[in-house]
Amino acid sequence: MQKRIVLVPGDGIGPEIVGSAVRVLEKIAEKFHHEFLFETVLAGGCAIDATGEPLPKETVDACLASDSVLLGAVGGPKWDTLPGAVRPEKALLGLRSALGLYTNLRPAKLYPALKDACPLRQDLISGGFDLMMVRELTGGIYFGERGRREGKYGPEAYDTESYSVMEVERIARAAFDAARKRRHRVTSIDKANVLETSRLWRETVHRVAAEYPDVEVEDMLVDNAAMQLVRNPGRFDVVVTSNMFGDILSDEASQITGSIGMLASASLGATTRGMYEPIHGSAPDIAGKNIANPIATILSAAMMLRYAFDMTAEADDIERAVDAALSDGLRTADIAAKGENTLTCTEMTDAILERL
Ligand code: IPM
Ligand code: MN
Repeated sequence: MQKRIVLVPGDGIGPEIVGSAVRVLEKIAEKFHHEFLFETVLAGGCAIDATGEPLPKETVDACLASDSVLLGAVGGPKWDTLPGAVRPEKALLGLRSALGLYTNLRPAKLYPALKDACPLRQDLISGGFDLMMVRELTGGIYFGERGRREGKYGPEAYDTESYSVMEVERIARAAFDAARKRRHRVTSIDKANVLETSRLWRETVHRVAAEYPDVEVEDMLVDNAAMQLVRNPGRFDVVVTSNMFGDILSDEASQITGSIGMLASASLGATTRGMYEPIHGSAPDIAGKNIANPIATILSAAMMLRYAFDMTAEADDIERAVDAALSDGLRTADIAAKGENTLTCTEMTDAILERL
C-alpha cells in the first residue's frame, strides 16, 4: 500500500523521537512492501519562530490532505510567556479540532520487563494491568468560552465547560466499541456529584450502554478514580472520560507504567486519518541530548498502522520488537534502574530495528 504520512516533529525532543519512528516505519515499509511518503510540517514553537503563528494554515492543509499524521511534541520555556492564543499548545488543540479528532485512545499497560520501574508496591501490581483510557478530545473546558473580567473581588478569569449529548454519545460509543475488542468492561469517570456536565455525561453514557448489553459499565467519580489507579490499576479495562479528566488521569496512568516515555496515543475522528503522538511533552530539559526514550513515539506509529491503515501484522511486529528490546534488558535513562546501563535514543531505536 502507498500512504502519505505528515510528520509534525514540533519542539524539544520532538524531532529526535519522530526521527526514530520514521526509521521504524521505513523498515516496516521495506519488510512488508509498502510505500510511505513523508512530508514534514511546522507546528508549535518552531512554527511561531518561523511564521509568527503556532499553527500555520499550510500545516492544517497538509494534515487534511494526508492519510495520517504523526506528531512529536510542542512547547517549551522559550514560548511560555506568550498569550494563550499564540502559545505552542494552541497548535495541538487547533489540529485536533481542525481534523475533528474527538476520540483520544491512551493505552497504559505494565510491561512485565518494566515492573521494577513501576513506583507502586509490587503486591499492588502482581496481577499486572492493561487499561485503555478513552479521553474526549475536542470538547469540554479546553474548548469552552474563557476570558478575564471584573468580578466581585476585582479582576478574575473564567473557563467554562459544556458538553452536548451528541459529543458524549459519540465518545461513549468509541469506548464501548473499544471494550468489545478487549475485556468488555467500561468505567465512565465524572464528577456527577458536583457538575451538571457530568450528570448529562452519566445519563448519556448509560443510554448508550443499553446498545451494548455485552459490555459491563460502571460509574466512578474522578477523585476516586485517581485513587483507584494507584491502589488497584488492574481493576480497569476501558476508561472513558472528559477532556480535562482524561488529560490528568492519563498522565497518572503513564507514571504507573514506569515512565511517561512509554505511552502512545491515537486521536481519531469520523475518518480513518487520525493523529498519532506520544502522550509525553517536548521535554526541553533533555532536548538535543539524544537521551529521550523513542518508544512512545514508535508505539504511536504502530497504532497508526493498526488504526489508520489496518496493517495489523505490521503493528504487531513493531510491538513485538519493542517487547523484545525491553525483555532483553535494554533501557533508556527514564526506565533504567539505578546503576543500570542506559542506551541513547539512537541506540534504543537501533535495538528495536534489529528486532523487527
Ligand atoms: C496532552 C497535552 C495537551 C493536552 C496540551 C499540551 C495542550 O497535555 O496531550 O495531554 O492537554 O491535551
Ligand atoms: Mn496532558
